[in-house]
Amino acid sequence: MPDPSYVHAAFSSIAARYVTANHLLSLGADILWRARAIEKIAEWRPHRLLDIATGTGDLALAVQRALPEVEVVGTDFCRPMLDVAAKRGLRHILEADAMNLPLPDASFDVATVAFGLRNMADYAQALREFRRILIPGGHLLVLDFSMPAGLLARPYRLYLHHVLPRIAGFITGNGAAYDYLGESIESFPRDKAFSELLESCGYSMPTRLPLLSGIASIYTAQT
Ligand SMILES: C[S@@+](CC[C@H](N)C(=O)[O-])C[C@H]1O[C@@H](n2cnc3c(N)ncnc32)[C@H](O)[C@@H]1O
Repeated sequence: MPDPSYVHAAFSSIAARYVTANHLLSLGADILWRARAIEKIAEWRPHRLLDIATGTGDLALAVQRALPEVEVVGTDFCRPMLDVAAKRGLRHILEADAMNLPLPDASFDVATVAFGLRNMADYAQALREFRRILIPGGHLLVLDFSMPAGLLARPYRLYLHHVLPRIAGFITGNGAAYDYLGESIESFPRDKAFSELLESCGYSMPTRLPLLSGIASIYTAQT
């Protein structure tokens, strides 16, 4: 499981260049993945949405723009990432550890977490904490990397473990943070295992939408 102080230091060190690195390394695919997430969120017609591990605010800002009637709060434990989110126009930010949110029970109707849960020290504890702040019948959306199956698996692993850390090191000055990315993707539960994890944490009706042959996935579930 990831070490929170390592994760905090890694994201603090890359905050200024994180947005550029993200878009370049995914060749812009992350923008399309967030657009798919917003289509799902729009179906739920939320009033209050908490974007957990919001980082520099990409998903929260996209919701804020696409669904202006929704009150969007972005939370993260890394101040330098939140500062970038605020500068980019995210209206409501909250510095907090996602494993222990300083928020009342049942205070949001949608919770989202994009590329964040994978970095947390205990996935089950985090998922239960997200459920606590959701209303009964609320929705959770998790967007994260998974692993493509079949012919793409080998070349993708080569890219992930050998090519990406070098390019990312060049862009952000911290290639080691991206060595960790590959390791965290390999050990993050995916597909059926992730749906089972959601159910074991008290969620119902888990769904999975694979993106780009399974390189990433959108998981949803209800409280
Ligand atoms: C890869 S970034 C994702 C940022 C954003 N959601 C996106 O889609 O670009 C992961 C974020 O998770 C945050 N994070 C990791 N563990 C956390 C925790 N326990 N509590 C709050 N934030 C956490 C990091 O600080 C970082 O900003």
